[in-house]
Amino acid sequence: MKPLRKAVLPVAGLGTRVLPATKSIPKEMLPIVDRPAVQYVVDEAREAGIEHIIFVTGRAKSAIEDYFDRAFELETILRGKGKNDVLQALAELLPEPGSMSFVRQQAPLGLGHAIWCARDIIGDEPFAVLLPDVLIKAKTGCLTQMVEAYGETGGNIIAVDEIPPADVSKYGVIAPKGKSGNLIEMQGMVEKPAIDDAPSNLKITGRYILQPEILGLLANQQSGAGGEIQLTDAMVRLMQIQPFFALPYQGTDFDCGDRLGYLRAIAHFALNHETLAEGAKEVFEKALKSVQT
Ligand code: G1P
Repeated sequence: MKPLRKAVLPVAGLGTRVLPATKSIPKEMLPIVDRPAVQYVVDEAREAGIEHIIFVTGRAKSAIEDYFDRAFELETILRGKGKNDVLQALAELLPEPGSMSFVRQQAPLGLGHAIWCARDIIGDEPFAVLLPDVLIKAKTGCLTQMVEAYGETGGNIIAVDEIPPADVSKYGVIAPKGKSGNLIEMQGMVEKPAIDDAPSNLKITGRYILQPEILGLLANQQSGAGGEIQLTDAMVRLMQIQPFFALPYQGTDFDCGDRLGYLRAIAHFALNHETLAEGAKEVFEKALKSVQT
């Protein structure tokens, strides 16, 4: 079994659900407490042992590339002011030189197409996909939980969790077949089904471990739901030829591409923050009281 070393983060999306903020800021750069959303996702990938991250970007997304680079001017000013603790904190977040690649998706043709755009850098090895819209708070990172399962089974694994049946048409949903330990075997998946057609209320959460054969399938994938080239449709084909499992992961996910989901993420990460939790609690309590009176 080839080791899992690379992860793809598709960040080309326009963020239309959080306009006007995303008119000039990539949605992945919107702050959650004190750092951009994308930093949490990169941390989750690193925790799981990922060595190389491939961003699939688009126009107006260069802030992401700049964020993961050194900022000489800023560093010089901070050094001059003796702000060594801040410098140290920034240095700790800096990726190893050469451990990130950026490739552009030239047209918004769908998630499947975005992943296909990374094919040359992925090469012939398994890879993870983390959708940076989705932040996951978990004791053990979601991708780490998946890597542990992958070590036992190999093949392909996606993270799933239960959603209210009324929400199924917003997501990819799996059709379960049976259980294999704590993993679910599947007979299919559907992207954004109508409520009456949904085979379950288990949504595809936005974390994947995939074998490189999916890239060949994506090359001739027809467009599906919403007129887009869907990763879900290619996974359904891959499932016919390779083992494929779903992992009901332990944790909570937040859809930061949605205004209330973004707010929920801020509240949750603030209330669980190492140093800000107490202060955040007071802020929220006071804010609630001021609305009630
Ligand atoms: C994508 C996937 C979908 C998944 C969802 C998770 O949809 O296509 O299968 O359930 O992410 O957030 P999107 O949100 O890009 O429409």
